[in-house]
Amino acid sequence: MANEAIILKTPQEIAIMRRAGLVVARVLEALEETARPGLTTLGLERLAEEEIRRGGASPAFKGYRDYPFCLCTSLNNEVVHGMPSARALKDGDILSIDVGVLLDGFYADAAITLPIGNVSDEALRLINVTRESLDKAIGEARSGARLMDISSAVQRHVEAQGFSVVREFVGHGIGMRLHEAPQVPNFGSPGMGVRLKSGMVLAIEPMINAGGYDVKVLKDGWTVVTVDGSLSAHFEHTVAITENGPYVLTRP
Ligand code: MF3
Ligand code: CO
Repeated sequence: MANEAIILKTPQEIAIMRRAGLVVARVLEALEETARPGLTTLGLERLAEEEIRRGGASPAFKGYRDYPFCLCTSLNNEVVHGMPSARALKDGDILSIDVGVLLDGFYADAAITLPIGNVSDEALRLINVTRESLDKAIGEARSGARLMDISSAVQRHVEAQGFSVVREFVGHGIGMRLHEAPQVPNFGSPGMGVRLKSGMVLAIEPMINAGGYDVKVLKDGWTVVTVDGSLSAHFEHTVAITENGPYVLTRP
């Protein structure tokens, strides 16, 4: 992926990706309204699949490298790629939900982290700082800027708040494939990396730990957790770079 060319999208293609993005946004809204203590992440998975099909789309993750679900549901110290299960959500949990869809040949991908019931002040601060870091990154997604302007915006905000940026997983270009060039790290130096151009579409996805940045993959082959057991949060949007600035395709 690193050395592949970046595939630019036409305005017509971006319009299709916007329709895919709206399905993703609706799924996440439905999950946010529903998630509460006592529900299981498998229950959320079923709701998500219904909403995806209702939107005329298909799930992007199911079947991707044999991943078996529509959603990734990552709880507490889980960073990304947690799998829906029959365990119930508890008061005080934080839950990251990641969903992608395929619609008319194009993908859209987004993630949110939700507080379940009443969470600690530290958990809430982690969620807020991670969301803010994505907003700052999106603000840099302009024609003429450099890729690492996006990355450094995340890193600067997060580290100023005492949290850390996961290194081993990154955002990505997106289009007719779920993962296209370029890779979009959440750390780096401003002014570095490829020059951004209208027609690029990026999935920007800060994964932020309350403790250290080291992560490991559990024996299930998917679930990524923090090595130190600290909480982790994840927000993601699919963003098109246009003549009129960043266009957030997965925003309601
Ligand atoms: N948003 C994640 C990504 O871009 C989700 C992939 S989960 C997988 O990689 F199951 F599809 F691998
Ligand atoms: Co993604």
